[in-house]
Amino acid sequence: MLSNAKSHVEGAPAAGPWQLAVQRTCLIMLVVQNSVLVMVMHYSRNNSSAGSSEPIYLASTAVLLVEVIKLFLSLLLAARDISLAHPRSNAPELAAKLYQSVFSADSWKLIVPAALYTLQNSLVYVAISNLDAITFQVTYQIKILTTVLFSIILLGRRISWRQWLALVLLTSGVAMVQVSGSLDLEDWKERLTSLLQGGGVPSALTTAGFSRFKGLLAVLAASLTSGLTCVYFEKLVKDSLSSVSLWTRNVQLSFFSLFPALLIGVLWQDGAAICRDGFFAGYGPIVWLTIALQAVGGLIVALCITYADNVAKNFAASFSIVVSYAASAIIFKTPLMLHSTGGAAIVLLAIYLFNSRPSPRPALLPLRESEKDSKH
Ligand code: C5P
Repeated sequence: MLSNAKSHVEGAPAAGPWQLAVQRTCLIMLVVQNSVLVMVMHYSRNNSSAGSSEPIYLASTAVLLVEVIKLFLSLLLAARDISLAHPRSNAPELAAKLYQSVFSADSWKLIVPAALYTLQNSLVYVAISNLDAITFQVTYQIKILTTVLFSIILLGRRISWRQWLALVLLTSGVAMVQVSGSLDLEDWKERLTSLLQGGGVPSALTTAGFSRFKGLLAVLAASLTSGLTCVYFEKLVKDSLSSVSLWTRNVQLSFFSLFPALLIGVLWQDGAAICRDGFFAGYGPIVWLTIALQAVGGLIVALCITYADNVAKNFAASFSIVVSYAASAIIFKTPLMLHSTGGAAIVLLAIYLFNSRPSPRPALLPLRESEKDSKH
């Protein structure tokens, strides 16, 4: 995963040892952040099911707070970039330069990914509300494939049959770890038997057929949106990296995300519940930790997209599922299961396959102009 990051870079300075070190650091940070986030959420879920009378916190308030924190952190980093670029300027001059760079002529381009990421978050919300957790998690892995598809369509990258095989293996391996890691085998058998015998769905799946269909459509649309948005963001950032810094782009992204998060999520969707229970109902240290981890995670995702690419980012996210599985076996003494261990091995094989190149030609490079011509 990490060794291939060098060949994925496009639009960034030539990959020297320093560049490679930055890519590796970003991807390792994403693996650690994702793994810790999974465990914190696991802990918060177990904790909240322990009979507490507190209402569960509203996802829309958390989404808004994550955007506010990301905006604040990105502003600090963008201000730092500008002060390094203009060491002789005083504070008001630096503030004016920051304002000009954030609200530059092409800042409107970030409205598209901001709207799409908000749509993705809403679709995930619809999917989670209408599907059981396992179906959601497994189906959402399709985003690994949609990301590659959009990288081919929008960035003109190419991929070998071996890498396609690796991506299919990766998707299946992650699905296997999640299915068997979250369900016990008897529950799984009960569901399958019930469905095969036409005896209707067991109690855990008593959602109406339409609701399930709606949930499946939502998760498929979220996977499509995820692939499209992250590749669009990658193209936008890398095309203008020499003139607009990543952190300025992130300020623009978070700024435009605030509007749908506040108007659609907080006011329209949960306005009544917030008026009744309060904005911070159900908040505790674990919820704050989850929000902080998600905000920092967003910045790490931005770094990975810029200094490596989206495919490497997805590999790192998938690898973190294996790390969480191993960590949960060690820390929480979760028993190792054959399916999960097999799935973890398949993920590792996929990472190896994706990175082992039989030909000296680097993988996932943009097509050369001559190749584009010969294809038509
Ligand atoms: O599931 P997926 O990898 O598409 O999720 C990407 C997440 O990273 C989104 O929740 C998005 O808000 C976040 N992100 C971010 N800043 C960026 C790019 C993505 O916070 N520059």
